[in-house]
Amino acid sequence: MNIITCIAPVNIAVIKYWGKRDEKLILPLNDSVSATLSIKEMHAKTTVMASPNFKEDKIWLNGKEETFQNQRLQSCLQEIRRRAKQKADNKGDSISNWSIHVCSENNFPTAAGLASSAAGYACLVFALAQLYDVSGDISGIARQGSGSACRSLYGGFVRWHQGSALDGSDSIATQVAPESHWPEMRILVLVVSDKRKKVSSSAGMQNSVNTSELLKYRVSHCVPQRTEAIVKAIINKDFDTFADITMKDSNQFHAVCLDTFPPNVYMNDTSHAIVNLIHSYNTASEKNKVTYTFDAGPNACLYLLQSEVPKLLAVLNHIFPAGNESVEYLQGIPVEKQA
Ligand code: DP6
Repeated sequence: MNIITCIAPVNIAVIKYWGKRDEKLILPLNDSVSATLSIKEMHAKTTVMASPNFKEDKIWLNGKEETFQNQRLQSCLQEIRRRAKQKADNKGDSISNWSIHVCSENNFPTAAGLASSAAGYACLVFALAQLYDVSGDISGIARQGSGSACRSLYGGFVRWHQGSALDGSDSIATQVAPESHWPEMRILVLVVSDKRKKVSSSAGMQNSVNTSELLKYRVSHCVPQRTEAIVKAIINKDFDTFADITMKDSNQFHAVCLDTFPPNVYMNDTSHAIVNLIHSYNTASEKNKVTYTFDAGPNACLYLLQSEVPKLLAVLNHIFPAGNESVEYLQGIPVEKQA
């Protein structure tokens, strides 16, 4: 029996991916940019085992057996096995002919809009690549599990290129800058709710593609310029511009969700209170000190520099005092290390 265990971190997008041009291959309508958190904070841990004695492929997620007959899982596994077979002389008892068992768990709320599928699929594909000794870019395989997963395979700041090839071969993730480039950067995750979201990202973005006019404008007129500008801000370590673009992109993404019919409402009153608080906090200085971004859920991710952390935490504790269980803090540090 061959066994591999890997850990993969969560990534938080500052330019959001929202909308696919190909549902099966998971090809996005626009580029996106994210930072990867340190492994010790929010991560997925996955063990993959291959044995000639296993009768069929099986998977357990957070201790519960789930079906392997899932298009996304199948796409990832088939592609890894195809590459493994290509590489190896596939005669006799080759491992790529054995069945596998997979056990995966997250150390944070699943499907509450905290990028659990990103860490989960990045971890699964990375572990399978180790098991089958597959090398080269595997972000295009993780993408077929969950789009945002391709960005979790790299540390630091990462860009997922939408690509233009019909087969998705150029829709891969690349590193914009390693964590060591901007080591003062911190991410604070404010957990407003750990409940499973009502409309999944996949279903939500499909509805947006079908019904939102604003989404068309966003992908053609806003995201291309924003992506170039935020990459430049990251390279120049220009926090003020980085913060500005991040907040605007988050707000526009949620505006698209509201422009979707019927609307997808992911943020709640606490989320909006956090937005107001950050704007007041920034207005007190000449330049932005903190930026917020919200995925498909009410939880806030705040980016800020280390020097600002004690002051912001004091303000947050004052506004959302201990005993109020609506907000928790988790300090993440983007890291360079892979899964
Ligand atoms: C709002 O990657 O979860 O977090 O590709 O359908 O699995 P699928 O969607 P998923 O969507 C993530 C959307 C987002 C923005 C982002 O992470 O870029």
